Amino acid sequence: MIEIKNIYKSFDEQAVLSGVELKIKPGSSHAIIGRSGCGKSVLLKHIVGLLRPDSGDILVDGLSVVTMRRRDLYKIRIKIGMLFQGAALFDSMNVEENISLGVREHRLFPQNEISGRVAEKLQLVGLHGIQKKFPSELSGGMKKRVGLARALMMEPKYMLYDEPTTGLDPVMADAINDLVISVRDRLGVTSIVVTHDMASAYKVADRISMLHDGQVIFSGAPAEIRESSNTIVQNFITGNQVVVA
Ligand SMILES: Nc1ncnc2c1ncn2[C@@H]1O[C@H](COP(=O)(O)OP(=O)(O)O)[C@@H](O)[C@H]1O
Ligand SMILES: [Mg+2]
Repeated sequence: MIEIKNIYKSFDEQAVLSGVELKIKPGSSHAIIGRSGCGKSVLLKHIVGLLRPDSGDILVDGLSVVTMRRRDLYKIRIKIGMLFQGAALFDSMNVEENISLGVREHRLFPQNEISGRVAEKLQLVGLHGIQKKFPSELSGGMKKRVGLARALMMEPKYMLYDEPTTGLDPVMADAINDLVISVRDRLGVTSIVVTHDMASAYKVADRISMLHDGQVIFSGAPAEIRESSNTIVQNFITGNQVVVA
């Protein structure tokens, strides 16, 4: 389980998170929605210890990533796969090299198992047989899926997705949504999906939280958010807003 307890974070004078509370249930997929710039990516970075809160705590499987020593943080990060904006593949490496980089570094599996595992993960994301291709030969959607395959190589317990459908055409975006669901259901991976795309949130999430002015102003099931009487929530989910990706 991941628990975010009353975290505050400012950059210089700008308060971004002002008392965020969130519980992510094991086996669930939890969408975090909110306007561009409201702090969604900042929140995700706190979960993996890339940013530290000014106050408050973040527990992953009961352990605080805020006070943790570097070595222990390293172990926690192995449990958490990340698909961040811009899949961040190395252009000079082919798909197989990109996907296997992390597991080679961490020596997670014997050398002779790696290419079999790469093939298996590529199959899972629907990209069978592209091991020798280079990132420049791939579409945006394919790069996202290679990024996902790379994250899955570590056999994570958690997956964090930052705007996984942004910049993709609707068909590709929906293919990514299906993958998020299948990773949760077939592999049992607890998933956090940051998005400002409500279609995606409704499709993949069994729980949705909305971040606004540094706080979680709504948390509930997709059916419940439609019934919310909060005008900020209603304006956001009905698209009555300015969206800047
Ligand atoms: N490392 C940083 N240093 C200073 N300001 C930052 C940093 N990271 C994010 N911010 C600011 O925090 C706010 C929230 O950013 P972000 O979490 O990226 O928003 P989003 O909800 O679109 O993901 C923005 O105003 C951004 O400029
Ligand atoms: Mg962001």
